[in-house]
Amino acid sequence: MNEEQRLHSQQAKQSSSKEKDYSKYFQAVYMPPSLKEAKKRGKEEISYHKDFAIPEEFAGMGQGKKFYIRTYGCQMNEHDTEVMAGIFMGLGYEPTEVPEEADAILLNTCAIRENAENKVFGELGHLKHLKLEKPGLLLGVCGCMSQEESVVNKILKSYPFVDMIFGTHNIHRLPNILHEAYMQKEMVIEVWSKEGDVIENLPRVRKGSIKGWVNIMYGCDKFCTYCIVPYTRGKERSRRPEEIIHEVRQLAAHGYKEITLLGQNVNAYGKDFDDLEYGLGDLMDDLRSIDIARVRFMTSHPRDFDDHLIEVLAKKGNLVEHIHLPVQSGSSDILKIMARKYTREQFLELVGKIKRAIPDVVLTTDIIVGFPNETEEQFEETMSLYREVGFDTAYTYIYSPREGTPAARMKDNVPMEVKKERLQRLNALVNEFSKRAMDRYEGEIVEVLVEGESKKNAEVLAGYTRTSKLVNFKGPEEAIGQLVLVKVTNTKTWSLDGEMVGYALSLR
Ligand code: 5AD
Ligand code: SF4
Repeated sequence: MNEEQRLHSQQAKQSSSKEKDYSKYFQAVYMPPSLKEAKKRGKEEISYHKDFAIPEEFAGMGQGKKFYIRTYGCQMNEHDTEVMAGIFMGLGYEPTEVPEEADAILLNTCAIRENAENKVFGELGHLKHLKLEKPGLLLGVCGCMSQEESVVNKILKSYPFVDMIFGTHNIHRLPNILHEAYMQKEMVIEVWSKEGDVIENLPRVRKGSIKGWVNIMYGCDKFCTYCIVPYTRGKERSRRPEEIIHEVRQLAAHGYKEITLLGQNVNAYGKDFDDLEYGLGDLMDDLRSIDIARVRFMTSHPRDFDDHLIEVLAKKGNLVEHIHLPVQSGSSDILKIMARKYTREQFLELVGKIKRAIPDVVLTTDIIVGFPNETEEQFEETMSLYREVGFDTAYTYIYSPREGTPAARMKDNVPMEVKKERLQRLNALVNEFSKRAMDRYEGEIVEVLVEGESKKNAEVLAGYTRTSKLVNFKGPEEAIGQLVLVKVTNTKTWSLDGEMVGYALSLR
């Protein structure tokens, strides 16, 4: 670790954030978002609300109206959109895919990197003309960006035609927020710094009928120094196992074939229960007995990946042999200033344990290049770790400073061209390993969950293996939604081609 990094390692521990004065904007008595508040993680009680219902006074609010939601970012956001769509429909709105037809438009935003935010501001610019043409149109910004002080400020200043801003902790309040926006001229801002509630019984309009998402927990307490999520999504809080198991059973009964358990750090599942010793391993073990073909989870943190979970995953059945395990960097020094709380050696040890227990496991990862002051040697350590683990593929990113996070205050001596060049080198390695991983399937028969026609060629069907490989093949329409067996005839960098040889009961 160089001097600069040693200093940052200390600074990362003593973060403080300057508060801006919002009071003049909040005549509507709503609580402003505050990073300072978000960082105060206490042992406050988690309240469970089981009784969500659309308030009667708002029933029919959307009669004859249409809604459109554009979703940015991760699966958690996609799933929140399903909930908001459920609420809209409960209010009598109809969905539309065409923004011009909509009476209410929501942008469900992502704050993870600057370019994600820029896309949203660009879209707001485009939507301005719709507001001018259709004064009755309600335009809202929700999701992670709304939880950021700087974003709320920017919208107030530069996008005053936005009607409502609400955050990630209060999507259940959508009926009230819409009502408020219809009633008043000023922008309605309802962003809670307070989190800590788990709301059950939320309505959902799921996007598909083959694969479903199931939240198992909300928030993140890890506070990696580069990451905005602990601020925008609040503290870790788990749903009760019985609620999750019930939801998965229902999805199975409705014919869903695959579920993905969602959480920002699913390995911390259950750590917030004070009346129950029950973790992700226990949950996966319980889900094994449900008659649904595939169960996966996203996203894990190496730190909390315990032996019991590995033991349970090794039992396979409907638990797939694919684990997405973000490493972020292969350098212990960089991992330290990222506050990841593991070293390169500990990560490799964990990988060794997983591979011994599940020899055919497929590992994929997330990597950030160009973290402040990352040296060439440290970057090379990431490259060598990638080779040593033999990841099948990775999502790779250039570090993007996020206001209010400790890393954003670190000075950075790595020029952008160097960061870009490192990303290119890493991506070349990722491609090489991806092709190598695909080649392993040459001539094999794989189980494919068929999702529909291929996006690129309507003549062929497309689906995924248990290990998340895209497979394109000729097959009958009736195969959509089914598990089929496909013989792989050709391998590419990102997909496999094959011929359907039959239906799979299941390869468990
Ligand atoms: N800059 C770049 N990438 C980031 N990620 C999270 N925060 C940042 C950031 N500030 C990446 C991490 C994480 C993934 C979801 O996004 O790799 O695992
Ligand atoms: Fe962000 Fe994931 Fe770290 Fe949580 S564990 S702070 S979501 S990178």
